[in-house]
Amino acid sequence: MVEFDIVAKAMQTRRSVRGFLPKPVDIDTISKILSVASYAPSGSNIQPWQVHVVMGKRRDELSNLLLGAFNKQEPSTREYEYYPVRWRTPYIERRRESGWGLYQTLGIKKGDRQASSEQHGMNFKFFGAPVVLIFTIDSDLEKGSWLDYGMFLQNIMVAARGCGLHTCPQAAVANYPQVIKRYLGIGEEQVVVCAISLGYEDPDCAANQFRASRVAVDDFAKFYV
Ligand SMILES: Cc1cc2nc3c(=O)[nH]c(=O)nc-3n(C[C@H](O)[C@H](O)[C@H](O)COP(=O)(O)O)c2cc1C
Repeated sequence: MVEFDIVAKAMQTRRSVRGFLPKPVDIDTISKILSVASYAPSGSNIQPWQVHVVMGKRRDELSNLLLGAFNKQEPSTREYEYYPVRWRTPYIERRRESGWGLYQTLGIKKGDRQASSEQHGMNFKFFGAPVVLIFTIDSDLEKGSWLDYGMFLQNIMVAARGCGLHTCPQAAVANYPQVIKRYLGIGEEQVVVCAISLGYEDPDCAANQFRASRVAVDDFAKFYV
């Protein structure tokens, strides 16, 4: 048995870090994280994940291409909807709380489009992380495989904590799948799911002072006894 406190610590110290140190991450450490993450369950054990580890010069080039698309305000060509098309209670309030909370921490005032856009653009700089993992899935797989995929992604983020590393999952990069696929030579049969920036946290980055809240257990769980 693994002690609850150890599991809880790994889960609870995982958070979305939006400012990394330039300190490189050892390639063996990345392999170790992916290896342990691959123990994620998947229906019929089909293991639908495909990971593209991008670092060094390739990371910088990909970042420049994505940032170029973002700065030119190229329309998103994302291959799946991540968010509801029509936002409603209670999700809209939670979304606002997290978005404004982060911006407040950064001193960005409501309506300051320039500053908000610059912060959003940080997604395409991978928040300074030396490594970005790009995740793709075969387009003919169904929702169940996307469920499996989430478990794999969470495993990566939790395993990273065990190596003293932090992460930021990013759906934003999936706005420009054609840029990613062209640059990495990924086939059209693949869908870009999201990315995870990976590295060592910059403790002095203001964005990293933000903590997202959580709904209490009694507000999302019913116990039938
Ligand atoms: C699949 C996925 C995609 C996300 N995409 C982004 C993103 O593009 N940019 C970003 O800054 N945060 C992104 N996030 C982070 C969420 O905003 C964050 O998980 C949430 O606010 C809870 O905060 P925490 O991760 O610090 O606990 C994403 C999270 C997930 C799970």
